[in-house]
Amino acid sequence: MTTATTPRTGTRAPSVGTARTRVEGREKVTGAARYAGEIPFAGLVHGWLVLSTVAHGRIRALDTEPVLAMPGVLAVLDHRNAPRLNTDFASLLGMRPDPTCAVFQHGRVPHRGWPVALVLAETSEQAREAAESLVVHYEEEPHDTDFGADRPDAYRADGIMPAVTEKGDLEAELAAADVVVDAEYTTPEEHHNPMEPHAATAHWDGDRLEVFDSNQGATWVVGDLANLFSIDPATVRVRSEHVGGGFGSKGVRAHQVAAVMAASVLRRPVRVVMTRRQMFTLIGYRSPTVQRIRLGADADGRIRALEHRSLSATSTVFEFVEPSSGVARVMYDADAHRTENRVVRLDVPSPTFMRAPGEAPGSFALESAMDELAVACGQDPVALRLRNDAERGPVSGLPFASRRLSDCFREGARRFGWADRDPRPGLRRDGRWLLGTGTAAASFPAGVAPSTATVTAHPDGRFTVRIAAADIGTGARTALTLVAADALHADPERIHVRIGDSDFGPAMIAGGSMGTRSWSWAVQTAAQEVRERLALGTDIPAEGITVRANTAEAIGALTPAERHSFGAQFAEVAVDPGTGEVRVRRMLGIFAAGRIVNPLTARNQLLGGMIWGISMALHEEAVRDHASGGLVGADLAGYHVPTHADVPRIEADWIDDPDPNDPVGIKGIGEIGIVGAAAAVANAVWHATGVRHRTLPIRPDRVLSAAAREGAPDA
Ligand code: MOS
Repeated sequence: MTTATTPRTGTRAPSVGTARTRVEGREKVTGAARYAGEIPFAGLVHGWLVLSTVAHGRIRALDTEPVLAMPGVLAVLDHRNAPRLNTDFASLLGMRPDPTCAVFQHGRVPHRGWPVALVLAETSEQAREAAESLVVHYEEEPHDTDFGADRPDAYRADGIMPAVTEKGDLEAELAAADVVVDAEYTTPEEHHNPMEPHAATAHWDGDRLEVFDSNQGATWVVGDLANLFSIDPATVRVRSEHVGGGFGSKGVRAHQVAAVMAASVLRRPVRVVMTRRQMFTLIGYRSPTVQRIRLGADADGRIRALEHRSLSATSTVFEFVEPSSGVARVMYDADAHRTENRVVRLDVPSPTFMRAPGEAPGSFALESAMDELAVACGQDPVALRLRNDAERGPVSGLPFASRRLSDCFREGARRFGWADRDPRPGLRRDGRWLLGTGTAAASFPAGVAPSTATVTAHPDGRFTVRIAAADIGTGARTALTLVAADALHADPERIHVRIGDSDFGPAMIAGGSMGTRSWSWAVQTAAQEVRERLALGTDIPAEGITVRANTAEAIGALTPAERHSFGAQFAEVAVDPGTGEVRVRRMLGIFAAGRIVNPLTARNQLLGGMIWGISMALHEEAVRDHASGGLVGADLAGYHVPTHADVPRIEADWIDDPDPNDPVGIKGIGEIGIVGAAAAVANAVWHATGVRHRTLPIRPDRVLSAAAREGAPDA
């Protein structure tokens, strides 16, 4: 990179599209970057959450007296003395009031690991010691945590999309089909557990509440806290400069609410940090799913009937729906088309958004079923997808703003060497290993939401961008620097992007793969106006020239269309028929996901998603002990995730696909990397062994028992 001054006019090479290391990279690797749990505060009080040890019932008594006598202990907050909260409001993503994080409001225990008290002390060690000593007496009631396909109490539920879509006569089309696939797929409970634990420090500065937090959207947290505590949002400031991962888990959670309560009661700064184990019950997770797919096709593979039904679990506290059948509403059309999301309420923590909510488990089921259909029709799996590429939204009937799915498959097949593939399973060997390849399609909505941003031109030729964006590890700060550079016709080195502060005004969260696109639109709009003013030869005063942009109107004017990113995933696996071990040998993802702002961090983002797909296919599974109602091994030792040794030669790349209706051409890449990845691996396992795995993860014991059952090739 050069720091030389470039002229403000004339031709200059765009910064968007060039590979840039993170602008805050040095701060992060030298430890200078401060995260929410390590910002120094004078007179800081430490809060430690106490979680229920029963799965259902009510609190009979809390023996707080002996705890209050322990060294350094200042107070214990619980449902008897905690400030009352308002839960009657709709959060940004929740649609309906979500009382999951309204802690200490009643003595009921809806699941194991529910917060029952906050112990406050002068040091973190004192708080923890006291919290672990607190004896809580419960009146236990029977609990029900048993998820499965046969729940009679399951019901249709909307969540973020309508529960049901329906067109045509499904049974008639299935009856008329030459080939029918009818199969059930299950995915386990999965947890997003970002490296940086959830942490918040709250303090009152006169009438102003300030919270240093780790979250995916400062203005979102302001809104929820203001609603919960019935205070004016203008008096709340949330800062979140560096965030060590979010994946959907970092909205308003118990820790911020508890910290604000305690800061209000004690009138001192209070910090609450979650432990890794606490995160397994307090931050949400992906529900297990059972999905049934029915596909009916003509002999040549054209789909005439498609049904995708999904069942997920939620808590008794909040109705969160994992919308797994939503992916079928985008991917494939059929003469008769039916999708449905259902849910069952159990005595478990509330699930939430987790990277590619709906699409991740939904694509495992749908893209596995497509592979089964390819086998049943004697069609190549890539050819089957090309044949069924939709021209309009299968449910909406709307045109796609752009849909380069088939191009992704063609390019991916070429680079992966798909043409050499023998379609017959169980034939390729490498020593004791059986080899196979598989593919799957990916899609994720390309949305955008209103945001505000300001851009200031300083007299020394530098610029400051301010936007309440969150960089949760995606490289958003760097991406926005490049976007601003192009709009200002300036070197990125002259631009300082400030994020993670609610005082910068409302902005979209880092979520729904919509962050960078939504923020870029606002930054570009403000920056362009700054440049136009400077072009008039205006003198820049000492305080600079500042322009504020709000994209609400421009986004409201977008014409309705199906807007999505697409991709094609390819995987090669080796299966040891003696041990049941599955190794992914190589993987390739080709995406059509809008204009790529920073190839370096974009690739990183897509690879991260694909690796999570390997993890979903082979490793991850939270196991609930129905006797206690809690998880077994709920930490990063017990919860299996891939390490470097599990990650093969893996490539992510993209084809040109600028969004036609976005000023920068961005679509969004945050989530699509995981979509279809697990199905590609599972389909490769079928190709290696001839055995279909419809239950994730594909553990060695499952490979062995399925092989014994189905007579797969052995060692
Ligand atoms: Mo994401 S699950 O929209 O953070």
